[in-house]
Parts: sequence; C-alpha cells; structure tokens
Amino acid sequence: MTKSINMEVNIGELKLKNPIMTASGTYGFGREFEEFMDISKLGGIMVKGLTLKPRKGNKAPRIAETPGGMLNSVGLENPGVEYFVKEELPYLKKKGVTVIANISGNTIEEYCKMAEIINDTDCDAVEMNISCPNVKEGGVAFGTDSDVVYKITKEVRKKLDKPFIVKLSPNVTNIKEIAVSAEKGGADCISLINTLLGMAIDINTRRPILRNNVGGLSGPAIKPVALRMVWQVSQVVNIPIIGMGGIMTAEDIIEFLLAGASAVSVGTANFVDPTITMKMLDKLREYLAKNNISDVNKLVGKIKTY
Ligand SMILES: Cc1cc2nc3c(=O)[nH]c(=O)nc-3n(C[C@H](O)[C@H](O)[C@H](O)COP(=O)(O)O)c2cc1C
Repeated sequence: MTKSINMEVNIGELKLKNPIMTASGTYGFGREFEEFMDISKLGGIMVKGLTLKPRKGNKAPRIAETPGGMLNSVGLENPGVEYFVKEELPYLKKKGVTVIANISGNTIEEYCKMAEIINDTDCDAVEMNISCPNVKEGGVAFGTDSDVVYKITKEVRKKLDKPFIVKLSPNVTNIKEIAVSAEKGGADCISLINTLLGMAIDINTRRPILRNNVGGLSGPAIKPVALRMVWQVSQVVNIPIIGMGGIMTAEDIIEFLLAGASAVSVGTANFVDPTITMKMLDKLREYLAKNNISDVNKLVGKIKTY
C-alpha cells in the first residue's frame, strides 16, 4: 500500500527523492554519517557552510546545551570551496546523493566567486547563507537589510545556472519583506530559518559559556518561530520554501509542510540520533498511508487557518 505513495518533490528544477534533507553545519559533508545510514536515501544534503578560503572557525567553547535546544558559535569552520569541489563533491555524487552547496562570504564579490566555482561542477544546487550569526563580517549582515538582500541575490544569480536557494535569518523585524527581496533578486527558493541569536552565562565565573559571548540557538526551542516564519513567507512569495528549525519528528515535518514548506531540512536532531531522518521518512510515509494521501506534495500549504 505504501508503495504507491509519491515522496518525490520538485523545488523548481531541483528534484528530490523525498522532502527530507539535512541542514547545513549539522551533517558535515555526509561521509561522517555513512557508518549509521545510507545517505543516498535522503532527499538531499545541504553541506557544511563553505567560504572562499579555508576557515578555522571561532575559539572553543563554541557549543552549549540549553533547555530545548543548543547554542553554537562554530563560526563557519570549513576546508574551503576548492577542497569541497575536489574532495567531497565527487564522492557524494558517486553515491547518488543530491548535493546542495552552502556558501558564505565577507563581500558580494566573494559570494559571486564561489557561485562561479560551483556553477562549473555537477553540484545540484546552491544555498546562499546570508544569515550566519557567528561571523564578524558578512553572514547575517547581508541578510537583515532588504535592499542588500535584493542586491546580493541579483549579483549571485547572474553567476548561477543552477537552482538558487537563499537562506534567511530569523534575526530580523520583518521576514516577509526580506523574503520578497530575495524573490525579486532572482532566488528560485527560500530556505528558513537559520539560528536565533542567543546567549548563556555561567553564574560562577560570570562569563558567557560561549567564547564568542553569543551564538546561534537551534533545536526544538525555535520550532514555533520557524513555523510562523515559513507560514508568513509562504503568503508573500511565489517560489518554494525549504523549512527548518527544531524539526525532531515526522509530525514536525508535517507541520512545516502544512505551513507552506515544499521540503524540509533537519539540523540539531542529527546530533541526538544520526539515523533520525530515516525514522522520520518511515513515519511520514505511514502518516500519508493512514490518511489516504497519495502524494506528499498534497500536504504543502494545506493549513486551515482561522
Ligand atoms: C552546529 C551548527 C552549525 C551550523 N552551521 C551552519 C552553516 O555552516 N551554514 C548555515 O547556513 N547554517 C548553519 N547552521 C544552521 C542550521 O543549518 C539550521 O538552519 C538551524 O540549526 C535550524 O535548524 P535545527 O533547529 O533543526 O538545527 C548550523 C547549525 C548548527 C547547530
């Protein structure tokens, strides 16, 4: 019975085997999870955030557990885009994985250069991170002003023939305005949310727990905020949305789809159980079968609002 259910999702020209991807920075380059699961069964892997040159990231401690979530200030530690293209991408493609490169830069020129490099590869899509709260320059600075969002999206778009996803920050006053600017700039898809800026303090040392003082909050604590933003954005843009933020169960995924996401990305949950995405996929199928829904796409945006 479950066999006849369609799980495939199209994000514009990007075809996914199912709507469940893994979120950037929480799943490495995929290889790290291979001893636990068949990574080719995922809808896609959004790889660790890449920069033009390799980065060491921020000083430790850079992870702290908080009620219902975690704070991180990793600061985009990564081996650089050239290394990814040479060493990681061919391996993932050979495995049959849909790969989405996640890029960050200090300047618009850096973003453009990276887009050019990835455009010449068989990487499936590019996700532009203009929402990282953990780097001094760039990152979130690009994602909080709608004029800048429009400009950077337009410039990077010119360098890319591949599906282009713009990842938004929740650390803004009006998420709808920012999303509309990304769409006007030429994004094929919006992904949201990145982490919420947060803080934790050790009352004995009176020092912030993170060496960077502040960090990005992720995990179940942020799900209501993420869901609200996906729903709001879905009402003002005509391009698909990839929803993320605190997804821990298949039920959470269904909520995101109903709110208007065409696909989702699972982040912090991978640290709790590295096989959690496959359990979610089975449960999602079960839910569809139980409710006589033949196609997962039929859930998208089907929230019955008051
Ligand atoms: C340790 C860690 C590292 C992350 N690194 C990146 C990154 O490099 N690029 C990016 O766009 N998002 C990064 N994120 C944000 C996640 O991709 C995701 O948007 C966010 O964590 C919300 O989803 P979640 O609550 O399921 O984790 C990171 C998150 C965590 C927890």
